[in-house]
Amino acid sequence: MPANNPTHILILDFGSQYSQLIARRVRELGVYCELMPYNTSADVITRFNPAGIILSGGPETVLENFSPRIPDVVFQLNVPVLGICYGMQAMAIQLGGRVTKEKHSEFGYAKLVDCKSSPLLENFNNTTVWMSHGDQVTGVPEGFISTASSTNTAIAVMENKTKKYYGVQFHPEVTHTPDGEKLFKNFIFDICNCKQNWSAENIIEKIIQDIRQKVGKEKVLLGLSGGVDSLVTAVLLHKAIGSQLICLYVDHGLQRLNEADYLLNHQAKRIGLKVKSSQAEGLFLSKLHNIEDPEEKRKMVGQLFIDVFMQEVKKTPEIKWLAQGTIYSDVIESAKSSHGSHTIKSHHNVGGLPEKLHLKLVEPLRELFKDEVRKIGLALELPFEELYRHPFPGPGLALRVIGAVTKEKLETLRKADFIFMEELHKHDLYHKVSQAFCVYLPIKSVGVVGDARLYAPIIALRAVESTDFMTATSAHLSHDFLEHVARRIINEVKNISRVVYDVTSKPPATIEWE
Ligand code: XMP
Repeated sequence: MPANNPTHILILDFGSQYSQLIARRVRELGVYCELMPYNTSADVITRFNPAGIILSGGPETVLENFSPRIPDVVFQLNVPVLGICYGMQAMAIQLGGRVTKEKHSEFGYAKLVDCKSSPLLENFNNTTVWMSHGDQVTGVPEGFISTASSTNTAIAVMENKTKKYYGVQFHPEVTHTPDGEKLFKNFIFDICNCKQNWSAENIIEKIIQDIRQKVGKEKVLLGLSGGVDSLVTAVLLHKAIGSQLICLYVDHGLQRLNEADYLLNHQAKRIGLKVKSSQAEGLFLSKLHNIEDPEEKRKMVGQLFIDVFMQEVKKTPEIKWLAQGTIYSDVIESAKSSHGSHTIKSHHNVGGLPEKLHLKLVEPLRELFKDEVRKIGLALELPFEELYRHPFPGPGLALRVIGAVTKEKLETLRKADFIFMEELHKHDLYHKVSQAFCVYLPIKSVGVVGDARLYAPIIALRAVESTDFMTATSAHLSHDFLEHVARRIINEVKNISRVVYDVTSKPPATIEWE
């Protein structure tokens, strides 16, 4: 077997809501890692050849016969292993220890006490840790010792120093464990002997090499949307293959105010990108005009994008590749949803390269988290304002005009949204919220403008705080600020009778209204 790759850590995912966080913590330390499902084949794991393996937490109990188990290959590779929560319990059971269901689950803060001298626990005594478990290890496997306790857990940490197997009952990956980073450092650098090589500069270099090797002299088509991911993808491709890249901007009329002008006349020119613009507003609006259902809108917009791309490919048959700005969380999400979870909204369509296009797929950001994409963008000298824009959905404003979409409604919405964004920037609030936008509600309400009665639609303001957009809370914007925005919208946008603020969190609501 070849020597372990000192720059690779493998994380096996047992389904914890924190699994992605583990991966981010490892990468923040400058070490490349991948998150793979716990039942990944031995072949794939062996080929990845990690310097160490981390087993994530998970929602199940190891006390059930059919709950997830650690694949044997993990213990055959002769590398250090760190089990977190469920990962620790699975390790304990599989190596001959004991796990029991406790009367009371332990959730929340705990103190780690009685820490023994251990390479994993350097400077850890008396630190605060975050617990979230029902079962616990009550007997360590042969060759292991318990190296720390917490208030409610006698064996909060266990280790087999010879084999370099470690288990922690708490979650070092969450910010509620303030010294979590220290623990990962101890594991990754002192125990696994990893080397740092995951820096923005190295990543850029590697991506550019990979693109060149993959694409050769063939032409690549990339849809530019104005979003962060497609922008960074474009710059990387441009650096790698120059004029072999063809960028396409589909002007579908569902963008925010001045978006096309900004993208085509400022952004692209500054970077030196050649961008073709396809005027498709008429096509999109005619196909959308009597669709009310959000999922149908998404499907229609998706289909029309494909149609426009197909036309472009027909015009330039030398195009052999389609580039996409897919990022790592999309890849992980779609792997999860392919295991039968319920579709709330159908927008996580990774690798959705339609067969009809007959193009090969290049996805330079496929291994990167959003914050890494942004860091790379900064290293590529892209402006902060462009890299830290709020997310904007692919189907654009079609999802923010409730019900049937018309040009007139879109124009009203664009003006209102522009005002909201302008005020957020002016009051230094834009980067304090995670996402903000206006929604056009086609129901009418009564107002008075001057002496006249107005019977007109409504604008809803939505602003949320979120770390991963899977959950969100409404942003606590001040009443004064909201009133100010409402006043401006009513005064400056024709035919709006009132403005409301959405205070619903996700769940139960979603961030977008459709
Ligand atoms: P929801 O509304 O599901 O949104 O809470 C979570 C995040 O996803 C964005 N979103 C979409 N993005 N196509 C996209 O590219 C879509 O169809 C879509 N729907 C929602 C939403 O803006 C938020 O950031």
